[in-house]
Amino acid sequence: MSKPVLKISDLRASVEEKEILKGVNLEIKGGEIHAIMGPNGTGKSTLSQVVMGHPSYEVLGGEITMNGEDVLEMEVDERAHAGLFLAMQYPSEIPGVTNSDFLRMSKRARLEEGEKEQSLIKFINELDATIDELKIQPDMAHRYLNEGFSGGEKKRNEILQMKMLKPEIAILDEIDSGLDVDALKIVGDAVNSMRSEEFGALIITHYQRILDYITPDFVHVMMQGRIVKSGGIELMKKIDEEGYEWIKEELGIEDERVIQDEEKRPVRLDSCGTKEKLGL
Ligand SMILES: Nc1ncnc2c1ncn2[C@@H]1O[C@H](COP(=O)(O)OP(=O)(O)OP(=O)(O)O)[C@@H](O)[C@H]1O
Ligand SMILES: [Mg+2]
Repeated sequence: MSKPVLKISDLRASVEEKEILKGVNLEIKGGEIHAIMGPNGTGKSTLSQVVMGHPSYEVLGGEITMNGEDVLEMEVDERAHAGLFLAMQYPSEIPGVTNSDFLRMSKRARLEEGEKEQSLIKFINELDATIDELKIQPDMAHRYLNEGFSGGEKKRNEILQMKMLKPEIAILDEIDSGLDVDALKIVGDAVNSMRSEEFGALIITHYQRILDYITPDFVHVMMQGRIVKSGGIELMKKIDEEGYEWIKEELGIEDERVIQDEEKRPVRLDSCGTKEKLGL
């Protein structure tokens, strides 16, 4: 298998006619772990959803390719088949579909044409072993997908999916949020166990603490729907200690969010002269 490459070029995307991504450039290759940090509401999850083809987002421009193939032309299942995987910030609950059925179906979607499906017994053995490794409650395999799972269980379950589906490029959106220290280590070990030239990952996170377990090769900062700064692990450490103000000052950014208050705030007409100021 050759080294996978996910390439995002000048990507612009909107939701409900509001432009959220305003020109994102990023290349992730096999063997690399990238981290994206950034304050709330700066477009990080939107980027992950657009890469996976969430229907609510409209692509306005730019390109995404996976191993040279046009991802924007692909349906969601084709993206998974191409080797992309997303662990969502807020995993959806799917009542009526058990966790193990979902994994079996998803694995089927990853098969190459003409490739034979793994036997049921092999699948069960692999599932049991992975559940054990991730210290997940065994009954979770037979429960409906994410229904009633605790926050931490949902996150571990996303990692279970990643380990079972063996993507080439995985995007992990806040996989560390809500995890206790033990779970954080388990998730970190799981990501590390996948590290190879055939696997690359993008970790969206707010905290440096995940780095006690996973060392990224590149760290990026997102503001206003773009990657505004990139560096190595030292960038993450500095953000952890000093926050984002220094980056905003350095780049002359006043409001880092994509959708800023003026856009949201309705015009209020009051008796303090606002009406006059607005010339109404
Ligand atoms: N489906 C949607 N409908 C309406 N607004 C949306 C939608 N998706 C994203 N947005 C808006 O786009 C902006 C960026 O959101 P996004 O979830 O990408 O931020 P984020 O960087 O992941 O933030 P956080 O760190 O809080 O997870 C926000 O203002 C958000 O409200
Ligand atoms: Mg987010």
